[in-house]
Amino acid sequence: MMTRARTWFLVFLVALTAMLPVLAEARVTPEVTNGNKVNDGDYPWLVSVQMTKMEGNGALRNHMCGGTLIDSTHVLTAAHCTIGKDDRTIPAKYYKVYYGSTQLGERGRFEDVARVIAHPNYNPRAITFDAAILVLKRPIEGIEPIALPDAGDRAFSNERDRVTVAGWGSTKQFGGKKGYRIRSTRDMMEANIEVVSNERCKASLRRIGVTGVNGEKSFCAAEGGKDACYGDSGGPLFGMDGDTPIQVGIVSWGIGCGLGYPGVYTRLSDPSIRNWIADQVRDS
Ligand code: ARG
Repeated sequence: MMTRARTWFLVFLVALTAMLPVLAEARVTPEVTNGNKVNDGDYPWLVSVQMTKMEGNGALRNHMCGGTLIDSTHVLTAAHCTIGKDDRTIPAKYYKVYYGSTQLGERGRFEDVARVIAHPNYNPRAITFDAAILVLKRPIEGIEPIALPDAGDRAFSNERDRVTVAGWGSTKQFGGKKGYRIRSTRDMMEANIEVVSNERCKASLRRIGVTGVNGEKSFCAAEGGKDACYGDSGGPLFGMDGDTPIQVGIVSWGIGCGLGYPGVYTRLSDPSIRNWIADQVRDS
């Protein structure tokens, strides 16, 4: 049975997991737990969403969240990556998008952000509709964007479907002795995991007193100790349709990292999310 203190600790952990990239701002330590290194040049549509309040401290230090290029001027990320400590949208001028390298280093390039648009139904308490679009100042040419599912098409988000999560987030739950500092890994990491049914996911989280996974707007994925972690938020969960990656989820939240509880992902096939994305891409 849960003690009250333990319940509150878990509530605190969930909140922290969701807010960490934002709280930590320039001092985020992000990577995937128990994953492996992505081959050089793979997943070119996976970008690093960077917070550059201070100039020139490098792609590694400024990494905040993952994001994906869904066309040449739009990056899809998590809504919780766009909300600051004051609960307001972080202004576009503080963002940069780093792209063109699997390493957070000198080889990639930066693009400025013109507008930040979070899903209007984003609910930070329930962590639903955790999706946002960054509109870039200039188009990124020469990178094939990642495909999204059609509205209502649940391929790659049914129980036991094989999917991959990738990003530069922390490889360990807590950034060592320094506590919650996100330490981004220089190399992009990935983990092959499976989709977990809503029933199994809810049952697993209920055991530790966490309720409220919205199985319509989100879904779960995990496999053993393989999981997303701090700094992976906003990045992709995708399946392979032959040679074509299809992004079905956005890294949203979890309980710690790699502890055996499923990670929770924004469900991109949900019509209220998928159609909203299509509208932003068309209109902005
Ligand atoms: N919100 C987290 C971030 O800061 C990602 C959480 C994912 N956690 C997990 N265990 N699957 O990047």
